[in-house]
Amino acid sequence: MTRILKVNAINPEKEAIGEASEVIKNGGVVVFPTETVYGIGANAFDGNACKKIFNAKNRPMDNPLIVHISKLNQLDEVATGITDEFIESAKILWPGPISFILKKNKNIPNEVSANLETIAVRMPAHPIALALIEQSGVPIAAPSANISKKPSSTRIEHVIKDFDGKVDLIIDGGDTAFGIESTIVNMTVNPHVLLRPGAYTIEELEKYLGKITIPKSINTQLNESETAIAPGMKYRHYAPETKLLAVKKELITKIPDMFKNKKFIILCSSEMSEELSDKNTMSLGSEKNLYEITKNLFDSFRKLDKIDAEIAFIQSFPERGIGFALMNRILKASGHEEFVSVAELKNYS
Ligand code: TXA
Ligand code: MG
Repeated sequence: MTRILKVNAINPEKEAIGEASEVIKNGGVVVFPTETVYGIGANAFDGNACKKIFNAKNRPMDNPLIVHISKLNQLDEVATGITDEFIESAKILWPGPISFILKKNKNIPNEVSANLETIAVRMPAHPIALALIEQSGVPIAAPSANISKKPSSTRIEHVIKDFDGKVDLIIDGGDTAFGIESTIVNMTVNPHVLLRPGAYTIEELEKYLGKITIPKSINTQLNESETAIAPGMKYRHYAPETKLLAVKKELITKIPDMFKNKKFIILCSSEMSEELSDKNTMSLGSEKNLYEITKNLFDSFRKLDKIDAEIAFIQSFPERGIGFALMNRILKASGHEEFVSVAELKNYS
């Protein structure tokens, strides 16, 4: 039986957080909201409790978890080799949607770190997440709350669909603010390396962390046999069941005519949807606000699978600011390439 508790996202009720923290302390699993996506968490010091997360998600054991802390002086419990310089940056960037790869403290069981010498650490900027970690008295290991390979949960109905009956407790804190996972930066190498684009933009991070190297392969899928920099990135991700193609904005208006003999749907901005008279479109929000589009992306992937469509198209967006992470998820969900010509698209009509 899964208990579902509705909790105020701005002023979390003490009693509810107390109940959830008892579950964590007793080796149970709790799904809770963060400012990025929902997380599925357990006591990071308890290897057996963390194993339950892998089972519930159907996650391969070689994909390590992110450890969440609520205050800076908890950092020593999970990581080692922390420099004063890092602390200065962390004071500015945390709490927030950025996970740092650091050297792991031996206290952290191998289930959490997948036998790596390093660990991903994040202090989330969400009152419920912070209160839960604080009251549990331990760091909480938590990957995104979705069945492995599916889009992360950004709304409570996603969480309930994926985890009702599979975890001890679910905290309903409403929709998550960013709707996309945290940015991951490897701090154990110089210059620092981006492992996953995310809610914190590179432009903003570089102001505090200096130059961040972006691997050329960041948007492409690795084979499972290849060693991935962030192990999770080698797996197929975020993908809806329906065949999805990313299409350059200028080509979108050509689709209705080219695919008139197929059941198709176009995921696009509200402006583009209007241009197409709303026909066969799903609006992601205004292209004047890429944060809105990003926030709705995973929900649109889940909705897509409920629609009777043979093929789906998604508009490409400029890869600046949050648009870089947005396009990373769009490309991962659509097979890593953007369609830029009518000739290429014709193969699918
Ligand atoms: O926004 C987020 O980061 C959410 C919320 C719940 O905090 N969490 C999240 O966790 O997205 P998850 O497990 O879905 O993604 C964690 C990623 C995986 O790709 C994993 O391989 C990578 O972080 N990772 C974890 N530890 C690592 C390490 N030591 N070195 C490299 N990559 C690591
Ligand atoms: Mg995930």
